Amino acid sequence: MTMHEDLRDAGERLGAAELAALQLDRLRATLRRAYERVPFYRQAFDKAGVHPDDCRSLADLARFPFTAKADLRDQYPFGMFAVPRTEVRRIHASSGTTGRPTVVGYTERDLSTWADVVARSIRAAGGRPGQVVHVAYGYGLFTGGLGAHYGAERLGCTVVPASGGMTDRQVRLIQDFRPEVIMVTPSYMLTLLDEMERQGIDPRSTSLRTGIFGAEPWTEAMRREIEDRLGIDAVDIYGLSEVIGPGVAQEFAESKDGLHVWEDHFYPEVVDPLTGEPLPEGEPGELVFTSLTKEAMPVIRYRTRDLTRLLPGTARPAFRRMERVTGRSDDMLILRGVNLYPTQIEEILLRIPGLAPHFQLRLTREGRLDVLTVRVEARREADARLREESAAAAVRAVKEGIGVTVEVEVVDPETLERSVGKIRRVSDLRGDR
Ligand code: DLL
Repeated sequence: MTMHEDLRDAGERLGAAELAALQLDRLRATLRRAYERVPFYRQAFDKAGVHPDDCRSLADLARFPFTAKADLRDQYPFGMFAVPRTEVRRIHASSGTTGRPTVVGYTERDLSTWADVVARSIRAAGGRPGQVVHVAYGYGLFTGGLGAHYGAERLGCTVVPASGGMTDRQVRLIQDFRPEVIMVTPSYMLTLLDEMERQGIDPRSTSLRTGIFGAEPWTEAMRREIEDRLGIDAVDIYGLSEVIGPGVAQEFAESKDGLHVWEDHFYPEVVDPLTGEPLPEGEPGELVFTSLTKEAMPVIRYRTRDLTRLLPGTARPAFRRMERVTGRSDDMLILRGVNLYPTQIEEILLRIPGLAPHFQLRLTREGRLDVLTVRVEARREADARLREESAAAAVRAVKEGIGVTVEVEVVDPETLERSVGKIRRVSDLRGDR
C-alpha cells in the first residue's frame, strides 16, 4: 500500500458547503469594505440602488454593478485603495498599451495571501518544498516575477530570481543550479528552448520536471510542443494584476484539465459579454472576479475581458474549474466578418510538420479588403519543398477550420522577433479606420 501524503492546505480541505458559507461571509465583508472606504464603489452602488446589506446569498452578487478597467484607470493612481497609503506595502501596475497604467496595491496581509495562493498553485503543478524554482517571469511592476517569487519561497523552495531576458545566461543558470521547476511565459519558454539547442544542450537532459506557464494565451498544441521538447509537465497558471496577479487559478499536473479557481479568495462568474447576464456553468462567456479577502484594493465584479467557461472541480471538487483562456475579447480579430483569435492560428500551425511554433500575424488593407498574413518560421530541418507544402497546408487548414482565407508566409528559422515575456502576436498595419 502506498501512503498518500495530504498536501492540501486548510482552504483546499473545505467541503463545498463550508466553502460557500465562507465565501458569503467574505463577500459581505468585502462589499461593506468597498462601500465604506472607496468613494468610487459607494457612488457606483448608490447609483445602481444596491447596498452591501442587500447581499444575503452568493446569487445576490449579480445585483451589484460591474467594475471595468476604465474605472480603475480613472482612479489613477491610488483612488481604488481601501486603506491609507501608509498601509500599502507594495504597488504593481499593468503596462497598459494605451494611456495610463492600472495601479494595484497590497497590504502586508494581501502579500501574504498572494504568497499562499501561489504556493498552492506551484504545489498543484507538482512543485514540492525543497525544490529549486527558476523564475523567468519579469520582475518589476509586472506581477509575474515577484508573485511567483514569494509563492515559491512560501512553499519552501529555493528561488532563482532570473527575471526575463539575457537568454544565454538563463540557460547557463538552468544548467548550473539544476531547477526542477520553471515559471515563465510559454512564448519565452520557446525562446529558452531554442537557446538550449543553439548551445548544443539537449533540453530533455536538463533537471527541469515542471513548467508553470501563463500570463498569455497558449494552446494544447503548444503544451505538447513544450512537453515533448523539454520532457516536463507543462501546466497553466492564470491571474491578473487587478485581482492579485498570478495564482488566481491553476491547473493540476495530475489532471491537466483546466484551471481550478482558488475560490476561497476569488469569486468567479461568467457573464454574457454583451448583456452582462450571468451565465450558467458550462456556458462560455466573459470571466468576472470579485475578490473575497483583499484589503488594500478589493475588486467587485471586475470584468476581465477573458473568455472561458466554468466547470465543476475535479482534483479539488469544492473549487470550480475554468477552461483554458484562449483569448481576450480585445484580441479578437474580425476578418471579413469572421471572428478569429490568434490561438486558433497557433493550434493549426503547430499541427503542420514543417512549421516551427514561432509566428506573427500582420493585418493590412488592400483596397477595401482586410488581409491577414501569417508569418511563421520553418522548422530547421524543413527544405524548400516541405516549406511550400506547409504553407499550402496552413492556408487550407485555416480556411477549413476558421472559414477565412489568409496568406501564409513561411520565413527562415530564427528570423521572427523572440519574446522575453508576454508576446505580442498581432501587428495591425491598417492605419486609421
Ligand atoms: O499576466 C499575471 C500573471 C503572471 C499570470 C504570470 C500568470 C503568470 P496582467 O499583466 O495583469 O497579469 O495580465 C492579465 O493576462 O487578463 C489574461 O488576458 C492574460 N493571462 C494571464 N494568465 C493567462 C493564462 C498577469 N494562463 C491578463 N492564459 C489576463 C491566458 C492569461 N491568458
